[in-house]
Amino acid sequence: MEQQATAVPEKKQRILSGIQPSGTPTLGNYIGAMRNWKLLSDEYDCLYMIADLHSITVRQEPAKLRQQSTQLLALLMAIGLDPEKNVLFLQSHVPQHAQLSWVLNCYTYMGEMSRMTQFKDKSAKHSDNINCGLFTYPILMAADILLYQANLVPVGADQTQHLEICRDIATRFNGIYGNVFTVPEGYFPKFGAKVMSLQEPTRKMSKSDPDDCFISMLDNADNIRRKIKRAVTDSDSSIAYDPENKPGVSNLLTIQSALTGESMDAIVASYEGKGYGALKSQLTDVVIDTLAPIQDKFNQYMNDKAYLEQVWRAGAETASRLADRTLSKVMKKVGFVAR
Ligand code: TYM
Repeated sequence: MEQQATAVPEKKQRILSGIQPSGTPTLGNYIGAMRNWKLLSDEYDCLYMIADLHSITVRQEPAKLRQQSTQLLALLMAIGLDPEKNVLFLQSHVPQHAQLSWVLNCYTYMGEMSRMTQFKDKSAKHSDNINCGLFTYPILMAADILLYQANLVPVGADQTQHLEICRDIATRFNGIYGNVFTVPEGYFPKFGAKVMSLQEPTRKMSKSDPDDCFISMLDNADNIRRKIKRAVTDSDSSIAYDPENKPGVSNLLTIQSALTGESMDAIVASYEGKGYGALKSQLTDVVIDTLAPIQDKFNQYMNDKAYLEQVWRAGAETASRLADRTLSKVMKKVGFVAR
């Protein structure tokens, strides 16, 4: 009898992305990155990492860092990332990140690192602690991505330069040793790749700014209402999407479009003849409706520490196994003796 050919399942492409546990994530983190992690999770083979090694480039309180890392894992699950389908892990649980990072340090130039705008910004902000980790941070990030042969890296616009240097390092290494690394592509949301501060809408929304500048993913309804009400708008009263001349209003419209999935044109049209009050009140409802169910699930996960531990242990095991494949190849290529 003739054998029927069975369809070989197509191998999914891989995603790796990460977030630092240096505070509670903001609506900017959610819209710029985390929301896409969930949206892409069916189509790709995904690894999402809590970048705790990156966090200590700025001084952290140990107990708080531990708590924020655990909370972040609960939040990743609360936005709908199923740990059975996605590898969720803590970066410090997988030592291969630091190992590969060392090797890549030796294939990256001082001049390249000196051009990184985030290094310049952060060293201005933390002038008493311009440590070497802050300088080589993008190399560790390159190691995170290249260890897993990721094809796609969903991030916000502020990571563009880091992704570019990762691609440069991968290409350089491949040029010397053959095809060792997959050269990754960035993935940015159409609206919301850079969510702006509510108080200074020409600057990015950041969790290290004063409280009124950002909405945290764990803010309660009253805080959300108050912060949006106080958000800086523009001097005239028309509602139009014009980031250059009307950054405040455009930022609020961007948040609405990103969270509802409605087109910018439809949203702007819905406010015709209405004022900023209507925009703020509608947006408040959208943000609360988005975050409330996430917060409910977050609280459930936080009440089950044993489950959280189980998730991070399983995540570390899978990540470590995948990371080892790349690291062994790299060690062999550069000429280290196998143990
Ligand atoms: P982090 O922790 O600063 O931010 C996590 C993600 O959120 C995005 N983001 C924003 N997007 C839109 N508007 C904003 N206001 C906003 N603020 C933050 C960031 O672009 C990011 O995607 N270096 C990374 C963490 C990292 C990583 C990696 C990412 C470590 N290793 C490997 C990707 C791949 C960082 O500090 O993100």
